[in-house]
Amino acid sequence: MANVFVSRSLAVIDDLTIEERVYLFEQTRALKKAIATQDEQTLRHFRINDSDFGIYEVFLEDSTRTKESFRNAAKFHRAKVSDLAAESSSFNKGESYADTFNTLAGYGNSVFIVRSKLEGVCRWLEDEAVEFARRNSLWRKPAFINAGDGKHEHPTQELLDEFTFLEDNAWSTESIHLALVGDLYHGRTVHSKVDGLRIFKNVKVDLIAPVELAMPESYVTKMKENKYSVRIFNSIEEYLKQHDIAPKWYFTRPQLERMGERILARQEELRQTVTFCKEFVSKLPQGTKFYHPLPRHRVHPTIPTFLDDTELNGWERQSINGMYVRIVLLALIAGKIGDDFIPTEPVKVRNDEEYIIKVDTRNKKPDPAKDQYSEGVRPIRDGIVIDHIGRKDDPATIRKQMAQITKVLKLDDCRGGEWVSTSTQDTAIYKGIIFRPQVKELCRKDLKRLAAVAAGCTLNIISEGQVIAKYRTHLPPRIYNFDDLSCNNEACISHPAQSEGAPAKFIRTPDNRYACEYCGRLHTYKEIWT
Ligand code: NCD
Repeated sequence: MANVFVSRSLAVIDDLTIEERVYLFEQTRALKKAIATQDEQTLRHFRINDSDFGIYEVFLEDSTRTKESFRNAAKFHRAKVSDLAAESSSFNKGESYADTFNTLAGYGNSVFIVRSKLEGVCRWLEDEAVEFARRNSLWRKPAFINAGDGKHEHPTQELLDEFTFLEDNAWSTESIHLALVGDLYHGRTVHSKVDGLRIFKNVKVDLIAPVELAMPESYVTKMKENKYSVRIFNSIEEYLKQHDIAPKWYFTRPQLERMGERILARQEELRQTVTFCKEFVSKLPQGTKFYHPLPRHRVHPTIPTFLDDTELNGWERQSINGMYVRIVLLALIAGKIGDDFIPTEPVKVRNDEEYIIKVDTRNKKPDPAKDQYSEGVRPIRDGIVIDHIGRKDDPATIRKQMAQITKVLKLDDCRGGEWVSTSTQDTAIYKGIIFRPQVKELCRKDLKRLAAVAAGCTLNIISEGQVIAKYRTHLPPRIYNFDDLSCNNEACISHPAQSEGAPAKFIRTPDNRYACEYCGRLHTYKEIWT
């Protein structure tokens, strides 16, 4: 059986299944022990030990821990480690991410560690690299590790956080009660917790932040979908007024560099609400641990330095664990370890259930006395009629949607027309109808395109005055490959303002919204169309 970890990218924490993460933690536990006991034989088992194995760091935002722990992990492996000097690279001449990374992949580098403000960048680079590797016959497909992308995710931080929680949970994945404190709005490390904490069976999360720095609604919804119990508090003070207090607290730094003027003006007051102080200590349950992805501010730390030498300090060990987890991750991607892992969880399959339903019309004989035709449409004898377009929208919106349909299905060059009508049952409800007498049928691909641009409509194929086939379209599981699609997150790699050429792609969520495949931003069906 092939090693499932080889050349895998890690753009979001969910790119690794729960059992793959648990395996990685078991390996990290063994590695950590071997380092503590200087057990060289075990260490050899982990070490890539190949000076041609290229690991490239590309950090377009500042970093100490993530960058240096990866660099030291790469040195442990005796691999080739490089660092792109971003300030003096061709990024400044307007080169795209795809061109830059493909160039470096061509020089024999296998793993890229990327930090950028562009959200979803690793997913896009992975897509591009596959094509580049094929065109240039590279023997190894490069892997991309997200070392923090804007406000989106920080999956390797999530790995070291979870590893540290497990260490303090006697390695039990049964349950966790965690307080997330601080800048939950900008903090990518807490956003990765939304899926990261799924390794625990029962999850209880307390969100502590002033409204200005609150966890975005979409992440709170996702936590609830993941069956976490979630409570929300405005400050540490408010949290400590009740008695169900978490034994694990995860602090984050107010990310001033990402805040607008308006919030910055109130930084003092906001920081106060999420800063721990002396008089709170006595209210904590026995054995409480504090964690922090770091850095903490030297003048205004949310975990004050007088707590360093107390039992609360979990953040220093957490930071040290960062290098261990990253050594193991690199060993897995290189295929040095992982051969003995046998997956039992099914690989994520793209949800492709039927979303174009054929309606049975066999026994329906036309009955002129009963059948009502929408105003303006004389039944055509041959051709297609697309009905119920934009039902319940206003006429102007429906007209725009019809223009989009005719463009996408290339129905602009033939005879026929578009009509805005009202429902036969309720004249206050508008709907659009497109009829094309010369078009005999639509192929499967066109049906899929129709569903993508006009979910909820019906397509009638008419021959010799009879409806010979009728289809109803529903929201498709994925929408991509359209010119007028766009993610509305300006920081997303696929946003037109970024000019990276990454085409917009969306996946439907269980609550029928559309998540951007790169940055995860949620949209309603209408919001994805520009
Ligand atoms: C964090 C980051 O960059 O996301 N730090 C880290 O990687 N350890 C958190 C932060 O910047 O505050």
